[in-house]
Amino acid sequence: MDRISVNTPDGQYDILIGSGLLVDIAQHKDNFELNGHVVIATDNTVKPLFADALSHALNDAPILTMLEGEQHKNLDTVRHFYDQLIEVKADRHTTLIALGGGVVGDTVGFVAATYMRGIHFVQIPTTLLAMVDSSVGGKVGVDIPQGKNLIGAFKQPTMVIIDPNVLATLPANQWRAGMAEVIKHGLLADTALLNPELQVLERATELVRRAVQVKVNVVEEDPYEHNIRAYLNLGHTFGHAIEQVTHYAWLHGDAVGVGLLAMAKLSYEMKLCDEKLVTHIDDLLKSVGLPRSIGDLDPETLYNAMSTDKKWQGGQSRFVLLNGMNQPMIVKNVPKESVLKVLHELKG
Ligand SMILES: NC(=O)c1ccc[n+]([C@@H]2O[C@H](COP(=O)([O-])OP(=O)(O)OC[C@H]3O[C@@H](n4cnc5c(N)ncnc54)[C@H](O)[C@@H]3O)[C@@H](O)[C@H]2O)c1
Ligand SMILES: [Zn+2]
Repeated sequence: MDRISVNTPDGQYDILIGSGLLVDIAQHKDNFELNGHVVIATDNTVKPLFADALSHALNDAPILTMLEGEQHKNLDTVRHFYDQLIEVKADRHTTLIALGGGVVGDTVGFVAATYMRGIHFVQIPTTLLAMVDSSVGGKVGVDIPQGKNLIGAFKQPTMVIIDPNVLATLPANQWRAGMAEVIKHGLLADTALLNPELQVLERATELVRRAVQVKVNVVEEDPYEHNIRAYLNLGHTFGHAIEQVTHYAWLHGDAVGVGLLAMAKLSYEMKLCDEKLVTHIDDLLKSVGLPRSIGDLDPETLYNAMSTDKKWQGGQSRFVLLNGMNQPMIVKNVPKESVLKVLHELKG
C-alpha cells in the first residue's frame, strides 16, 4: 500500500493507494478510524458494484444513494442526502464515505461540509478521473441551472482510499476521459505519465500514484487557488467552452482532451513552445482515443462561451499555456484572432 500525506490549511490527511484495499478494508478498520458511526453514500450504478460489499465490511454501515450522472449533481440531491442522513441518525460524530466518481465525491463532499456544520468525510473514488483529480484538493460542490460548480465549499477529507482494482468495471469512455487529466498532469509536471506503457489498467496503481502526486504538490502549495493552482486548468478554458456550448453532451475528459490540443496550438501560435510539442500532444490524444477535433462546433460561439468564464476577470482573456514541456504559465490578453485561428484549425 502506498501512502501520500497531504498538508492542508485544515490539517493533514493521507491518500492510501493499493490494489485490493477495498476488499481488505475490514482488516484496516481500526487504523482507518472507520469503527464509529459510518455511512456510505454512492450512486445507483456503483452501489451494486462495490457499496454492498463495503457496507458488509464496515459493520453493515447504511448506504445512501443518488441517481448517477452530472444532471443529478444538484441541490435537490443534496437535500435528499440530508433527509437520508437524518433518517439513519447521523450526527456530528458520523463519518460520511463518498464512494463513486467525481459526481458522488463533489455532491457528498458538499453534504459533509454542511450537514450539522460539517462532519468527517472520506473519499473512495471509483473512476480514474476521481482518483487522479476530483478526490484530492478539497473542492466540493454542485451545479445550478446558471452554471456548473457555482455552489460549493472547501472540505478536506479525513482520508482518501484508492483501490485501482475497481477500475476493471469502468467503461472504456470513462477510462479515456480520466486519461485526459492524467495527460494534463503529465504535461504540467511529470513526463513519465505520458508514456503509453504506463497508461494501461495493469499499471493503474503506479499511474494513479504519480498522477495524484502532481495534484497534491500543486494544492499543497496553493490550496485556495490564489496562483499556481490555476495551472490545473490547463486545457480547461477550451474544454469548459465545449461543454457549455454542447450543453454537457461531451464528457468532461473528452472536452479537456481536445482542449489540451487547442492549448498547445495556442502556445505555439504565441511563440511559447515549438511545433514538436503540439505534435507530441496530438499523438498522445490519438493513442488513448481522445478527440482531436471540435467537429462542427462554431469557433465564434466557443470564443463567446470562453469570455463568460469566471476566471476572465473583466472580460480580459486568461489562458494557462505551455512555455515548453512541464513549464506552465498564465498568459493574459491573448489576441482573439489567435484563439479563433486555433479553433478553425481544429474544425473537422
Ligand atoms: N472537485 C474537484 O476538484 C473536481 C475536479 C475534476 C472534476 N470534478 C467533477 O467530477 C465530475 C466528473 O467525475 P467522473 O468523471 O468521475 O464522473 P461520474 O462520477 O459521473 O462517473 C462516471 C460514470 O461512471 C460510473 N462509475 C463510477 N465508478 C465506476 C466503476 N468503478 N465501474 C463502473 N462504473 C463506474 C458512474 O456511476 C457514472 O455513471 C464532474 O462533476 C466534475 O465537475 C471535480
Ligand atoms: Zn478537469
